[in-house]
Amino acid sequence: AASIEHVFIVNQMKMTCLCKETVVTLVNGQLPGPTIEITEGDSVTVHVVNRSPYNITIHWHGVKQFQNCWVDGVPMITQCPITPNKNFTYQFNVVGQEGTLWWHAHVPGLRATLHGAFIIRPRHGADSYPFPKPHKEIPVIIGDWWEKDLAEMAMNMTKNIFSAYASASTVNGLVGDYFNCSGVAKEGFVLDVEPGKTYLLQIINAGLFSEFYLKIAGHKFTVVAADANYVNPFTTDVIAIAPGETVDAMLIADAPPGRYYMVALPNQAPLPDVQTPEYATRGMVKYKGEHKKEEGHRGTSSDVPIGPKMPDVHDTITSFYFHGNLTSLHHKGHLLAQQRVDEHLFRVLGLGTICKQGQFCKRGNSSDDIQVATMNNVSFQQPTAMTMPLLEAQYYHISLNSTAQELPKRPPILFNFTDEALIPFGPKEMLLEPTYKATLVRRFKHGAMVEIVFQSTTMLQGDSNPMHLHGHNMMVVAQGLGNYDPVKDVPSYNLVNPVVKNTVLVPNRGWIAIRFVANNPGVWFMHCHYEFHLVMGMVAVFIVENGPTIDTSLPPPPDNFPTCGSKINPTPK
Ligand code: C2O
Repeated sequence: AASIEHVFIVNQMKMTCLCKETVVTLVNGQLPGPTIEITEGDSVTVHVVNRSPYNITIHWHGVKQFQNCWVDGVPMITQCPITPNKNFTYQFNVVGQEGTLWWHAHVPGLRATLHGAFIIRPRHGADSYPFPKPHKEIPVIIGDWWEKDLAEMAMNMTKNIFSAYASASTVNGLVGDYFNCSGVAKEGFVLDVEPGKTYLLQIINAGLFSEFYLKIAGHKFTVVAADANYVNPFTTDVIAIAPGETVDAMLIADAPPGRYYMVALPNQAPLPDVQTPEYATRGMVKYKGEHKKEEGHRGTSSDVPIGPKMPDVHDTITSFYFHGNLTSLHHKGHLLAQQRVDEHLFRVLGLGTICKQGQFCKRGNSSDDIQVATMNNVSFQQPTAMTMPLLEAQYYHISLNSTAQELPKRPPILFNFTDEALIPFGPKEMLLEPTYKATLVRRFKHGAMVEIVFQSTTMLQGDSNPMHLHGHNMMVVAQGLGNYDPVKDVPSYNLVNPVVKNTVLVPNRGWIAIRFVANNPGVWFMHCHYEFHLVMGMVAVFIVENGPTIDTSLPPPPDNFPTCGSKINPTPK
């Protein structure tokens, strides 16, 4: 195994896009940021040098960080942030995982520009892929371009000042030719292909809000992996991908040589009614040799690339079926069927209001209320005023006092779709539950089998709900539309070959059931990857306790672990 080293210099710089100069925060001046390419088993060292004015942490999205929660990169949960002009070195091994993941800043708003691909190749080379060896592997990072100060935008959300509209979508940082002012690479992202060859597209949704549909005219994809877990291959003409998800798909250049548009369409903008098709981004697949042909046939119809027919902007069902098609290639289901579930969690996702004056306020929407995002009607309070992250408090057995509490056993508030569906959608008319903020944590015994059912609600019909769990992969045993009903739904669970993911998309006005084994000791974030929900509190913290042996326990923190505020002098028990 090799040791891979990177230096990430986080800095602000000016970029011109859509004919406007915008100040952005980037790693090494690149958008997307540098790709980390490793082989399974390698050790990774990333020196982060923070020259930006912000507190920064970097999260390695989907890397399990087995017994290494210290480098998971969540501010005040796993580490004190890297303050301006400070450095921190993340060091970890990647074992037992292969495929496409990504890294991003875990700072409100900033991950829109601070992100990059994290590619893990198999130990025994490309010949050991469970699919034909591709001619080339190409990261396709879908994101958005924002003409605003992202840190400020995220801060404004907490004050209910919404201005969360991206100016354009991007593929690999380029907006494409839907826009007059798309800058240097007018055509957007161009994928050069040779006829008959096979390409592995490593697709990442790095967008803050939107789910995307990706299509290439005249071509189909064969999906081979999702969230760095191999799936039973299936062929589709459309990829559906939510924020935080990754998809590996094969593309065979088997169409008549020519030029074909590649379109990424955001299917769920924050406000669907302001969305136009031009918000989508367009790139191109170009066959080798096309140039010569073009010169010879100037003015013929082959000069006009073919465009794909996209799903409707408001289509959520295509995404539901796409995700339902994912099943695990490596069946571990027999183990699942045998194992009993130790913890059953039911989490209702919603929006609520908090009175500006106090903790509770009457149901309603007076202008004094602050809108928040909730799980079981509680909005997560970031533990900002603490002198150490929750992980250190847990490790040194320091009481988490009143800022962090065990989740009270309260009955979940069930949501009646039939009644609420009558309420017109829109910020004014929306009826929100009164709620409160708390730093809720949930403890699991080492090795516990946990089941969570995430239930979406009508309040969220305009938003996407990709739920992401740090430190563990989840097996998706079922998904459905409407309300979850254990009597009807449990018998239909897939315990044979459930897809394994780190981010699961809760179907729009539906539910999803997942299981995971809590076997990675530490303090792990679990949250919606839709940025507004994350910032506004659709978050939980899971503490996985140490196992009985050294091998199942969390080792001490790394050297030069950042500290925050006052110096701490912990005495381990
Ligand atoms: Cu990709 Cu906690 O995030």
